[in-house]
Parts: sequence; structure tokens; C-alpha cells
Amino acid sequence: MKLTDHEKALADGTHGPAKAKAIDLLMRYGEALGAERLVETNNVAGAFNASTPSVRELVKKGFDAVYSELNLDSAEVVPIPKMVANTCQLITGIDNDNWRIQGIPEDLAVQQKAAEKHFGGLGINMFATCTPYQVGNVPVKGEHCAWMESSAVIYCNSVLGARTNTEGKESTGAAALTGRIPYWGYHIPENRRGTHLVHVDVEVDDIMDWGLLGYWLGEIVQEDVPVLTGKMKQPSLIKLKHFGAAAASSGGVEMYHVPGVTPEARTVEEAFGGNKPVETLRYGPAERKIAYDNLNCATERKVDFVMLGCPHNAIEQVWLIASMVEGKKISPDTQLWVHTPRALREVAERNGYVKMITDAGGVVMSDTCPAISRHAPKGTRVIATDSAKQAHYLPAILGLPVWFGTVQNCVDAALTGRWNGGLQ
Ligand code: F3S
Repeated sequence: MKLTDHEKALADGTHGPAKAKAIDLLMRYGEALGAERLVETNNVAGAFNASTPSVRELVKKGFDAVYSELNLDSAEVVPIPKMVANTCQLITGIDNDNWRIQGIPEDLAVQQKAAEKHFGGLGINMFATCTPYQVGNVPVKGEHCAWMESSAVIYCNSVLGARTNTEGKESTGAAALTGRIPYWGYHIPENRRGTHLVHVDVEVDDIMDWGLLGYWLGEIVQEDVPVLTGKMKQPSLIKLKHFGAAAASSGGVEMYHVPGVTPEARTVEEAFGGNKPVETLRYGPAERKIAYDNLNCATERKVDFVMLGCPHNAIEQVWLIASMVEGKKISPDTQLWVHTPRALREVAERNGYVKMITDAGGVVMSDTCPAISRHAPKGTRVIATDSAKQAHYLPAILGLPVWFGTVQNCVDAALTGRWNGGLQ
């Protein structure tokens, strides 16, 4: 791998042992990927805190040991200096306020808060959300990033036109200390061109429609780059957030184009950049139904737990839910958890949305989600959600059946305790 003079100085330890470990990790990682060089990045989104039970013993050795082992893959403990790149923390396993409701042991909640204080002091912004782009981390077109979290990666590449691969704890940990990441994959313009042409023959408008389309598409194209044309109505941040999260769940999609909407393709031709589509796909009523059936594995209509906010809700979504439950009461046998980034929760609190939801018997959560925390309300047997991603993962993670539908279907289930949704 070709290194610049600065990268060579990082490697020979001139800038301290942590940065030497970091650049060594990136060189080995890059060589395994076939990258010829590293690229500068000043935007890292990773996982740096210590909220899992497995980290308990490591925390006793100090937070340098936590970062060395989990973020630099080093058994040798090195002192960790301040971050070089702008860096933020993605979602965590624990809501700092609602950990008791989640069923998290107190020592882990204390451990997470101490870790946040320590790593915050090194320059890691504790956004604690899978949607950093909703709370101020909005890279510009062409910007090289190092992000984890599949739903954020696909949003970063496709909607923002910034450039990242799906990184891990170690590569983001090394990138944050060096401002470097391997120049590979979606950092390279040619790899961002379309591969599959997708004709959408049914109208796609609401969040559920976009989730179904993404879920169907991801399973088919897997890690390729679809280009969508047809009957999609003008999407919003929220709809593309759900579409991307779904496509990155059933498959590994990290990049797509909607000509005229996403920033790297004004036309279909531009989306393919001279490539010929390897396949042309059609999405019609039959494909929509396949996606719906695949996402709905529950049969029992009594619902114990309704989860809204995967990826984390935008403030408009919190408002919509608050409006739907205002002046009503959640069924006594059902729990409603509404997830949003902590920064937006503050706004929701200020606006009175949190009170509207809590007065109805719901909980507004931040910092986490059931798939990451692996916690649902005690006694949950059946879940309902408006998120294709959550519906994909929860049966495997929690071993529980899920209903998937619209926000209205889910709020109705929370109010009545029963699932009455269905494909319209
Ligand atoms: Fe975010 Fe958890 Fe969904 S990390 S995208 S809310 S599974």
C-alpha cells in the first residue's frame, strides 16, 4: 500500500502508540481489501461506548483498554489521545433515562454513562443514534466518510452523495485517530454506478410502501446498486430513510439511485454512467405482496408491544404519533415505545409531544432500539412495528413474531391491543 509521508510517520510511532496501532490496522485492512492507498476522512460515525455485559471485565481495566481492544483490535493497552477526525457515536444498547423500563441492569447503565463521559472528553459526539444525519452530521456530496450502521451508510451514499463503505468498530476506531480509511468500494466513483434497472409499476408513496419496496429489492440485488424508475411519488428524508434501511436489511445494499431525486443521477443514463444493466427488474402488486408476507410472521392478533422509530424517528414522525394518541389511552396490556434521537427528544419534550405520548401511556426512548439492546418489554409475545428493518431482525434477535404495517396500524394496535392491519 502506498503511504504518504504523514502516514509513514503515523506508522513509525512518531505520533504515539495509539495512532501507530490505528494506521497499522488500516494498512492491514486495506491490503486485505485490495486498496492501493488510504484516503483522508474527517467524518467518522462508529461505536465507542461500553454498554454491553461482555465489556464489564474490560471496563475494570479502564477506558483505554476498552478502546484498545474494541476499537483498535489491540490486546496491548495504549493510551488513547483525542480524536483527529470529527467523530460521533451511533446507537447504543441503553437509554440513559429509560434503562429501568428497558430492563437493563443498573451497573451497565452506570458503565455506559461513565464511558460516554470519558469518550466525549476525547471528542466523540454522543449523538447516540443510528441517524446522525438527522441531528447535524450531514456530510456533503463527495465527502469521504467512515460510517458504521447499514441504514446510515446507504443514506450517506445515496441520499447525501457522500462516500462510505459499511465500516466496523475497529476501522472507525482507527479512522477517528488517524483521519484515514482505505480508498476502496464506494469511495471510488466507478463503483457507485448503477447495476440493476428497476421499474416500479405500483404507486409507492407512504412509509410502508417505501419499506416494502426496499425490502423486496434488497433481497434480489443484495450488494449491487439499483436504479429505480416508475411510480414512486416524491420521497422525503423519512421515506428514503425507511427504504434504505429495508434494502440494507434483506440485502446488503449500500448505494442506489433514484434519477431526478438522488444527487448523483439526474437521468437513468447518468445513474449507470456507461454501465449496461446486468438485469432489469419489475416491482408490481405480486412483488409488493411477497415483501409484505415475508415481513409479517405473526399470526396471533393480540399485540403486547408496539415499536415505532426504526431508523430513529424524525421530529415530524414523533409529532404524527403524538397527534394520533393525544387524549387517548394505550391498551393496558400493550406497551408503546417511540424511538427518536436524544437531540430530537429534547425538541419533542419542549413541544409537548413527549407529554402527549406519555399521557397516553407510551414511552419516548432515545439512544437505543430493541434490536440493538436486545430488550423488549417483559412478557412480550407479539410485536407490531412500522419498520421493515425491525420486522426483519426482531424475530431472529428476540425470537418473537412481528406484525408490520403503517404507523396508523401500529398506533391502532397500541390503543386496542389488537392487530387489524393488512395490505390495502
Ligand atoms: Fe436504528 Fe435499531 Fe433500526 S439501530 S436502524 S433503530 S434496528
